[in-house]
Amino acid sequence: MPPMPDTLQTNRPDLPPEIGRRRTFAIISHPDAGKTTLTEKFLLYGGAIQMAGQVRAKGEARRTRSDFMAMEKDRGISVSASAMSFDFTRGDDAYRFNLVDTPGHSDFSEDTYRTLTAVDAAIMVIDGAKGVESQTQKLFEVCRLRDLPILTFCNKMDRESRDTFEIIDEIQENLAIDVTPASWPIGRGRDFVGCYDLLHDRLELMDRADRNKVAETVAIAGLDDPRLAEHVPAELLDTLREELEMARELLPAFDRDAFLEGSLTPIWFGSAINSFGVQELMAGIAEYGPPPQPQRAEPRQVAPEEGKVAGFVFKVQANMDPKHRDRVAFVRLASGHFERGMKLTHVRSKKQMAISNPVLFLAADRELAEEGWAGDIIGIPNHGQLRIGDALTEGEALKFTGIPSFAPELLQSVRAGDPMKAKHLDKALDQFAEEGAAKVFKPAIGSGHIVGVVGALQFEVLASRIELEYGLPVRFEPSQFTSARWVHGPDAAVDKMIEKNKQHIAHDNDGDPVFLTRLQWDIDRIERDYPDVRLSATKEMM
Ligand code: G4P
Repeated sequence: MPPMPDTLQTNRPDLPPEIGRRRTFAIISHPDAGKTTLTEKFLLYGGAIQMAGQVRAKGEARRTRSDFMAMEKDRGISVSASAMSFDFTRGDDAYRFNLVDTPGHSDFSEDTYRTLTAVDAAIMVIDGAKGVESQTQKLFEVCRLRDLPILTFCNKMDRESRDTFEIIDEIQENLAIDVTPASWPIGRGRDFVGCYDLLHDRLELMDRADRNKVAETVAIAGLDDPRLAEHVPAELLDTLREELEMARELLPAFDRDAFLEGSLTPIWFGSAINSFGVQELMAGIAEYGPPPQPQRAEPRQVAPEEGKVAGFVFKVQANMDPKHRDRVAFVRLASGHFERGMKLTHVRSKKQMAISNPVLFLAADRELAEEGWAGDIIGIPNHGQLRIGDALTEGEALKFTGIPSFAPELLQSVRAGDPMKAKHLDKALDQFAEEGAAKVFKPAIGSGHIVGVVGALQFEVLASRIELEYGLPVRFEPSQFTSARWVHGPDAAVDKMIEKNKQHIAHDNDGDPVFLTRLQWDIDRIERDYPDVRLSATKEMM
């Protein structure tokens, strides 16, 4: 077996056209930077919706719990927003975009991280007045772990924004990535007239009167072209010339390899709400963005052009229809040409599954997926067999790697309001654990469960969902523990440690041992007394 290369191949001109035309990406941003607005414009230009204003999912940060529950009721819409497919045509080339939604709220960050395992690139949206914000930075770090190529969109240029060099410097310094301007803004705030497209030498002019109108573009033969003066006021033109000269001297030129390796990000300036700069960004993804990439797996990586179908579950959404307790597993196809009705092997259980009702998500609609190619995201309705991290193949025992599970930062114990219904609670907790909505630990001593989440809002959401979906009122109470660490190491060493520390041990819903404590001192003690045992804050899902 050949050794796994450290870096995945990025540039694939030899891919079959059906696969080569696919672009699977996510948008990352700090809440309020404009992700929802940008998504909506993508769908508009992708022909997936007819007019702006149809995507009502608002930035999640501003969602209160009641908004969240209302959204839950309306699951059809929120689920279809998890992955959206649409076409983008550029000249004679028709691209298929798969946009995977990353929930923006920090309470759901684990879900967000996992989502990023399903994409080949990310668009980072920043607010031109605010620059790099905390959530952008966090999400960026995850992209970096995966060496994802990043395209940057600096939004809200129609408003007072920071100096262009300052924004670029901030990205370079805070995120330690080189930045190359794909476009350059002309004027700022009220005086913003548009951008100079450095990749195609043309002028893009913003129409403030019509927010849904695509920018007018004027072909320009370089910065000395007299046509520039017809469209740009003289003082802005002088500044533009000066700034571009400086930019060319100080900033790196676009280099596709550096971009694909994740060490250089091209930046576009625009205004999503005014539809400005959006199509240029889409063209950037189409022309330079990576096609479906090989996926890391054991015992070998999976290349998209392989003839056989293989894919992995990166997200599970349950109770889309509470009457049927059905779940939809979102599968990223890693290779091959999938056709509806195919029988695939569910590697974990070694059972065959006939995939007869796969769904494809098109903006607010979903439809039966008759086929899918490497890079596509399909939803598979099931009754709980499919879990995050599971592989589906045409028989090969593949295990996709790199889908992380994070240690929860908040732990609480949970009790059923009605003790007779403890069984229902077990079932509900199992379901949430499988969905990845919470970690559920069963202590080795005593009864009950300890539930761990990444953000506090999740306890409330869980309590509401258990009541709504299982008719069971529950109470979350402070637990004696505050940290959870997965226990790794040779069986004998792990068993010995567990035997001596039973009061700290619990098992997660896969049966793996977890060390619970409220003191860092305990963690240090275990590491000192049991040198073969490792306590870790993440666990790779199988
Ligand atoms: P998010 O998903 O990243 O959280 O951001 P979202 O798109 O919801 O945008 C956040 C706010 O910023 C919205 O205003 C939106 O209209 C505004 N916005 C988005 N793009 C631009 C832009 O290019 N220029 C300007 N000036 N504003 C922009 P809101 O008042 O919070 O909501 P709404 O009532 O306008 O929907």
